[in-house]
Amino acid sequence: MHKLIAPSLLSCDFGKLREEIEMLNHSVADWIHIDVMDGLFVPNISFGFPVLKFIKKYAKKPLDVHLMIVDPDRYISRFAEFGADIITVHYEACTHLHRTVQLIRENGVQAGVVLNPHTNVLLLEDIVAELDLVLIMSVNPGYGGQQFIERTYRKIELLKSIIEKQNITTRIEVDGGVDLNNARKLAEAGADVLVAGNSIFATDDPAAMIRELKTC
Ligand code: DX5
Ligand code: ZN
Repeated sequence: MHKLIAPSLLSCDFGKLREEIEMLNHSVADWIHIDVMDGLFVPNISFGFPVLKFIKKYAKKPLDVHLMIVDPDRYISRFAEFGADIITVHYEACTHLHRTVQLIRENGVQAGVVLNPHTNVLLLEDIVAELDLVLIMSVNPGYGGQQFIERTYRKIELLKSIIEKQNITTRIEVDGGVDLNNARKLAEAGADVLVAGNSIFATDDPAAMIRELKTC
């Protein structure tokens, strides 16, 4: 089954960030997933614009920027300027989600909405047609290396049925605890894009793991 793989740089060795990016450039990875955390929306802080700018300079694949920040409207244009190809914002962090999605599009960037594990996919029925993708969290956001939440399969199936019913092409992406044990099942449930951090970067041969995740 054809699925896209988006390795999450959060789990890479930042001491050799450029090599890690080159490895991804030469791998069969489709996108590069960038986790931005503000210490408010999630209990962790990752990295911001200077690092993103560096990643953009060397990356040859689309940058999939996952914003785990409150009130993301404040920074959309700057993330676009610094090279984001896709921006996803959390449903739980946006009071006027439709406006935020429009803002992302006005900046010439693909727009996605992320759902935390507790957020029902039915809440997206009135906006899913405006989205390039929906990102379903399969862990609580904030850290790499957490355990996959099994309920995720049901959420993907339900979202897939909504997308089919509306006859639209919005992609489904899944993020958190993705590995060789669940990748195939996630794709069968309807996921188009798999984000993986720990399962890729904790192995001796990350490029080989990316290939296995893509073809399993
Ligand atoms: C979690 C991040 C994920 C994380 C995934 O808040 O959104 O992208 O890096 O890492 P793994 O695959 O290790 O769960
Ligand atoms: Zn993420």
